[in-house]
Amino acid sequence: FRTYFDFCQERRNVTSFWADGGEMNYYFFYGPSMDSVVSVYTDLTGKPELPPLWALGYHQCKWSYYPESNVKEIAAKFRELQIPCDAIYLDIDYMEGFRCFTWNKTYFPDPKKMVSDLTAQGFKTVVIIDPGIKVDPEYSVFQEALENDYFCHRADGPYMRGKVWPGRCYFPDFTNPEVREWWVDLFEELIEDIGVKGVWNDMNEPAVMEVPTKTFPLDVRHDYDGNPCSHRKAHNIYGMQMSRATYEGVKKFAYPKRPFIITRAAYSGTQRFTSFWTGDNVASWEHLWLATVQVQRMCISGMSFAGTDIGGFAEQPTGELYARWIQLGVFHPFCRTHSSGDHGEQEPWSFDEDVLNITRKYIELRYTLLPYLYTSFWRYTSKGEPILKPLVYFDQADVQTHYRTDEFVFGRQILVCPILEFNVQGRRMYVPRGKWYNYWTDEVITGGREMWVEAPLHIIPLFVKEGAMIPRYPVQQYVGEKKIEELVIDVYYKLGEEKSAVYEDGQDGYDYTKGRYSLMNFKLVGKKDEVVIQQHHEGMFDTDYNELVLRLHGVPFDIKKVLIDNEEVNLADLTSDSESTIKVNKIFYELRLIGAK
Ligand code: GLC
Repeated sequence: FRTYFDFCQERRNVTSFWADGGEMNYYFFYGPSMDSVVSVYTDLTGKPELPPLWALGYHQCKWSYYPESNVKEIAAKFRELQIPCDAIYLDIDYMEGFRCFTWNKTYFPDPKKMVSDLTAQGFKTVVIIDPGIKVDPEYSVFQEALENDYFCHRADGPYMRGKVWPGRCYFPDFTNPEVREWWVDLFEELIEDIGVKGVWNDMNEPAVMEVPTKTFPLDVRHDYDGNPCSHRKAHNIYGMQMSRATYEGVKKFAYPKRPFIITRAAYSGTQRFTSFWTGDNVASWEHLWLATVQVQRMCISGMSFAGTDIGGFAEQPTGELYARWIQLGVFHPFCRTHSSGDHGEQEPWSFDEDVLNITRKYIELRYTLLPYLYTSFWRYTSKGEPILKPLVYFDQADVQTHYRTDEFVFGRQILVCPILEFNVQGRRMYVPRGKWYNYWTDEVITGGREMWVEAPLHIIPLFVKEGAMIPRYPVQQYVGEKKIEELVIDVYYKLGEEKSAVYEDGQDGYDYTKGRYSLMNFKLVGKKDEVVIQQHHEGMFDTDYNELVLRLHGVPFDIKKVLIDNEEVNLADLTSDSESTIKVNKIFYELRLIGAK
């Protein structure tokens, strides 16, 4: 039911919530630390499977890319300009008169060939599917649903009719398990035959046009898994049940590969099935601020796989706004540029050369950080740990973090401080307690204080927690383009101890659930004249590489001696590239880098 929350508005120090109906059925999470609240909350509401690694790449979308020649042009331009991109989206115009599960054959005469040509260039095709089914007696999806009585009815009997993109529509009752099963099988052609890799569910609040409430009337009936009820009760879960059915459908026909789903509407628990974006935002600085706050809140609500329309959906961003948005967006778990398309172009090359280069630089940065991001996804899917951590979540004991919402920690060890204002060369920020390396300069900063940080247009302030070991892949134009010959790890010296991990697996498929993953747990202990790195390895997955390339940052002594598992190795053999780079076999228990004694 519709729910209301009052956080100390009516009465100071009193939080209350109430709803229009339903059982009094609530859960209290004591915590008291935020991480334990989130972890118990996600135990209750559920965690997803790992997404395919390509889904963590960069996605390009617009309303709409069509016809086929336009889609191909966009794809080719990414490759020509060497801007990494993994997914390209088809918005509603790929369909025949906005009929779900159909193709406009004038615009897309041979979808299967187009999708396979895109696949050959490393692009995965994602298509939109909305809940509104066009009322058209000639249309098979409509016919089947009508024959089987799958559409929602009003309380007094007639079908729930509403206007959406196709004009007059009826809406499948996704709260009915039989309807969901039918919906699952509708994906066979799209996924198995045509080769589409992901499905985008939209308008599933459900959205209805030209009515004041913008949704169903409250009397609409729902099956509610065999416990019939009205829309008053089912409204909040309608969208979730749609994305659930979509997830099952894509999974069924993509198997043994992993499905990818994105949805606009969701409810607590929807994270089990799909990723999210925050809906139709505006190309404004205010909405850039909103984007940073919204995605952090999604993350601590168990829904980490979230992002915003980079650059803004409505209206036209300036090059500067787009640049600042992409700098933020590459640190969101879901990273997609999307726009309504009615105001001009929003591809990385639609602005000036500077913005193009900035965009490429940050998308490349995201691709190099993929193993770090994937490790964060593994922690999210296995433990419910938020991928982005608001400062208060990161260090709750420090009251200075409590009211700061516009900085966050990406994963566990990278602090991101987005620039949310125009025409600035820097900003004030709060650096959480502990020591941090400025990512761009390697300057070490002691936190627990406010400071000014420089941020010309090509820089988003980033800081790495001392002691961190950050894994990096080479820049790839798409996930899987290159074989990973060696794993680079940036090692940030710390006087003291810090733990890090690298999780990897087949990047797609389900072998990881049978133990075919590789988890390197590292413990770094830095002393005045020594760095000790211990490794504990788990899992049966064989990575393509056998060597780690450790790039050392901030080590305060010259390395004179290296011991691997207590045996001295010739330093010259390990440091072929430069003094601060050490190449070692990936399998070791203990590595000691020793300075002069
Ligand atoms: C909705 C979606 C938007 C999409 C449009 C057309 O406004 O939120 O992302 O492009 O519909 O399908």
